[in-house]
Amino acid sequence: MLLISSVPIQTRRFVTLATNDSYARGAMVLGKSLRNHKTTRKLVVMIGPHVSDPLQRGASKIFDEVLLVDVLDSGDRAHLALMKRPDLGVTFTKLHCWTLTHYSKCVFMDADTMVVQNVDELFDREELSAAPDPGWPDCFNSGVFVFRPSNETYGKLLKYCTEHGSFDGGDQGVLNGYFSNWATADISKHLPFIYNLSSIAIYTYLPAFKQYGGNAKVVHFLGQTKPWSYTFDPETKRISGDMQEASTHPTFLLDWWMLYSSSVVPMMTEGYGEQPFHSGCVEVSLEGSSASQDPHHTEPYVSPQASEERKQKWEQGQADYMGMDSFDNIQKKLDAFLK
Ligand code: UDP
Ligand code: GLC
Ligand code: MN
Repeated sequence: MLLISSVPIQTRRFVTLATNDSYARGAMVLGKSLRNHKTTRKLVVMIGPHVSDPLQRGASKIFDEVLLVDVLDSGDRAHLALMKRPDLGVTFTKLHCWTLTHYSKCVFMDADTMVVQNVDELFDREELSAAPDPGWPDCFNSGVFVFRPSNETYGKLLKYCTEHGSFDGGDQGVLNGYFSNWATADISKHLPFIYNLSSIAIYTYLPAFKQYGGNAKVVHFLGQTKPWSYTFDPETKRISGDMQEASTHPTFLLDWWMLYSSSVVPMMTEGYGEQPFHSGCVEVSLEGSSASQDPHHTEPYVSPQASEERKQKWEQGQADYMGMDSFDNIQKKLDAFLK
C-alpha cells in the first residue's frame, strides 16, 4: 500500500546577509565554518547589488543560494549616532529574510559570526528564538535568531518600522519592538549565550567566560572592529592592528583569519590568477596560506607595553586584550592565584 504523508515538507536553511565586500568576506567565513562543522542544512546568503563580482563568485561556491536583495536603510541618523554605528541603517535589509517563504524554518546569522561547533539543533527551536543581548539582556541580540519566513510577518514588520521606527536605528530595535514578549513569554526561546558569544562578555565577565567560554558554539565579532579591520600575515600567523580596539578573544580572531586565508581567499581567486584582495585596511598575502595549519599551535601577536602604561590603560578600561592582557595570560594568572 502506498502511504502518502500529510506532514508538510520541512525546508530549513541557514541565512546570512552581506551588502558590501567586507561583510561578504565575513559571510564566506561563516558559510565555510558551518560546512566544516558538518551542517546537514543548506546555506543562503542575501547580497546587495554592491557586492563585487569576485566576491559573488566566491559566495556561490560556498552557499547553495545567493539571493540579490534591495538594500533597505532606516535612514535613522539620530538613533544610529547613539550607538556610534552610522553604518547600521542598512541592517533593515535583514528583514528581507522573512520573504524567503519557500523555506519553512531558518536560522539567521550575522556575517560577523563564526561557528565553532555544529549548531543544527537550533532548528528544533521556534520563532523567535535568540540569545540575550550582552548590553541589555532583556532584549535579544539579532545576530543569531530562529525564524519562520512569512509574507504576513514581513508586512507586519515593515508596518512596525513605519509606525514606530527602531529604537537603535537598526534591525535589532525593530525586532525587539515587534517580538516584544521575548523576555518573558517562553524560556525555550532564550538561546544559551554560547550560541551568540560576543566579545563584550570577555570584557565584562571574565570569570564566566573562563567557566563557559570553552563550550562556545557561535562566536560573534559584535561591535565596530571586525576581524577584517586587522591585518594578518599568513606566513607568521600573526595578526596586527589597533589592539586597543580588540573585539574578541585572540584565538577566535586567529581562527577567523586562518579560515579566511586558507579556505576563502583561494575560492575567490581560483581560475582568475593569483590576485591578492584589498579592502580598506585589510591585506592578506596568499603566499604561505595552508589549510592544514592548526591555528591553536601559533601564538597571536603580542604587543610590548611598559608596565606603568599598561596599568594606566587597565585603569581606563583599555586593557591590551590582544597582547599582554590576553585571555591566556590572564587565565595563567588566575590559575596561579587559585592554586
Ligand atoms: N550588514 C551588512 N552591511 C553593512 C552592515 C551590516 O551586510 O554595511 C549586515 C551583516 O550581515 C552584519 C549585520 O548586518 O553582520 C549586522 O551588522 P554588524 O554585524 O556590523 O552589527 P553588530 O553585530 O556589530 O552590532
Ligand atoms: C546589534 C546586532 C546586530 C544588529 C545591530 C543593529 O548589535 O548585533 O545584529 O544588526 O545591532 O540593530
Ligand atoms: Mn554582528
